[in-house]
Amino acid sequence: MRELFELNRCWKPNNMLFCKGLELSCDMRTSRVQIETGCMDLANCNVDASFEHSQFEIISRVRDMWAEARSEANRTTDQTKWDGDLKPMDAEQLRECGHKMVDFIADYYKDIENFPVLSQVQPGYLRELLPDSAPVHPESLQDVLDDVQSKILPGVTHWQSPEFFAYFPSNSSVAGFLGEMLSAAINMVGFSWITSPAATELEMIVLDWLAKSLKLPDEFLSSGQGGGVIQGTASEAVLVVLLAARDKALRRVGKDTIGKLVAYSSDQTHSALQKACKIGGIHAENCRVLKTDSSTDYALSPESLSEAISRDIASGLIPFFMCATVGTTSSTTVDPLPALGKISSVSFLAESSNGLWFHIDAAYAGSACICPEFRHYIDGVEEANSFNMNAHKWFLTNFDCSALWVKDRSALIQSLSTNPEFLKNKASQGNSVVDYKDWQIPLGRRFRSLKLWMVLRLYGLENLQAYIRNHIELARKFEELVKLDSRFEVAAPRRFSLVCFRLLPNPNNEEFGNELNHELLEAVNSTGKLFISHTVLSNKYVLRFAVGAPLTEERHVVAAWKTLQETASDLLRNS
Ligand SMILES: Cc1ncc(COP(=O)(O)O)c(C=O)c1O
Repeated sequence: MRELFELNRCWKPNNMLFCKGLELSCDMRTSRVQIETGCMDLANCNVDASFEHSQFEIISRVRDMWAEARSEANRTTDQTKWDGDLKPMDAEQLRECGHKMVDFIADYYKDIENFPVLSQVQPGYLRELLPDSAPVHPESLQDVLDDVQSKILPGVTHWQSPEFFAYFPSNSSVAGFLGEMLSAAINMVGFSWITSPAATELEMIVLDWLAKSLKLPDEFLSSGQGGGVIQGTASEAVLVVLLAARDKALRRVGKDTIGKLVAYSSDQTHSALQKACKIGGIHAENCRVLKTDSSTDYALSPESLSEAISRDIASGLIPFFMCATVGTTSSTTVDPLPALGKISSVSFLAESSNGLWFHIDAAYAGSACICPEFRHYIDGVEEANSFNMNAHKWFLTNFDCSALWVKDRSALIQSLSTNPEFLKNKASQGNSVVDYKDWQIPLGRRFRSLKLWMVLRLYGLENLQAYIRNHIELARKFEELVKLDSRFEVAAPRRFSLVCFRLLPNPNNEEFGNELNHELLEAVNSTGKLFISHTVLSNKYVLRFAVGAPLTEERHVVAAWKTLQETASDLLRNS
């Protein structure tokens, strides 16, 4: 029976169903399941294994059968039940269960490319599978893992799959993972220095390291007036600096003038800024979303920024914030930082001695700037007040870890600090320490610097640079493949590891082109063999192929392209 316990989960959407490395294969033509110990007819699984029958249903039925057999046997053999003896912090129990969990996770990563990368479940699928209420009596870890296998994983979109090419990546790594484990183990709540000095000090040190790797100006280092802080996300980063900028402006021009404050960005800026403006009370009509087009590769034009500022000043409004992007979400364009920076710093701005607060959002592309050959993309950062990159996107650091640097930490602290009696302590009162609670929205915070520290130490900058370069090279290869097929076009210049492309429609029917590409996206994603996402550029529906998952190799990129080509052929034949 032991072998049966190992049988589970894996499949490939072709005629053969493989449970890779698990001695189970299912030939869809003969409807036979081949097991190491013998054969089982699919008829025994209560499914009609004809070709009309969805492979997903057959597979899921087979999977359920093994899960049932497995839990049945485990009920008699499983030793990791706590049987009411509640010891939440028992070290030996942690050791035993931890090993089991690590094995489970390692197997998950080993098998990950055999899952459909985009989950194929329907909305509400889980309610059907789980009980209505929490168990009164404890269950075994094995029971829970069985449910993860049979009920949770089918509803997971596998961001760590090598065939995940959607949005931007969200990296995991052994080092990041170990850092997360340690952070969970220590489980401190480091809102002020005294609550865990190491957490505060390691965060300062690690962000200084990363700032130096990016060659950020010294003003962003913690040794001066500035410093770095780990936020959960780029959205939180832009929110906190927008609040700091707002309050700095209001201190100058009076708190009743909030209705006059204007924020500038382009139509390619991430919607996180829009949300920050909403939360920060910046009036919607004062959010200038400046139009871009293909003539600047969708970059914000300094002229249009200048004109908008002049118009606003003439109308009695007060420019206070500008967000530029390095690596926009739609097409990874890079706004011209030096020219924008110059505009933001000039003192002609109404009632302002310091100009606009200039924030740079490099959430995705910032990671690439640790490579000397890509560092030029952030030239101009010298003029910025704040700079942000998500180490959890493309820097092998598990979610969440968004690094934010500011030149003037006092601006953040003035906006976000509170000082209730119950948090007062000698170190904070003495102003000799950093209390990160005053640099962020929540009070509590995790020991996130551990994972970034582990990533930097266990991989080293050289390996991290090679990692980034490899993805950029894979994207370049994909771009070449697209260019070789005259039915497709590359829809925007590629800079980093994102390729924007589209299937060309009949020249006289652009509207149909959008539909066609939408259909292509839906069709390839429903194969489970790859997952891509889309955007709209110049009113054209464009497909995005973002390389950046840690397990992605050239063979995955080539296979994804083959699926795209074959699906396009089918679509064109039937259209
Ligand atoms: C350029 C850019 N900025 C901001 C964000 C928002 O990121 P987060 O989820 O960390 O808030 C993204 C997300 O992809 C992004 O691409």
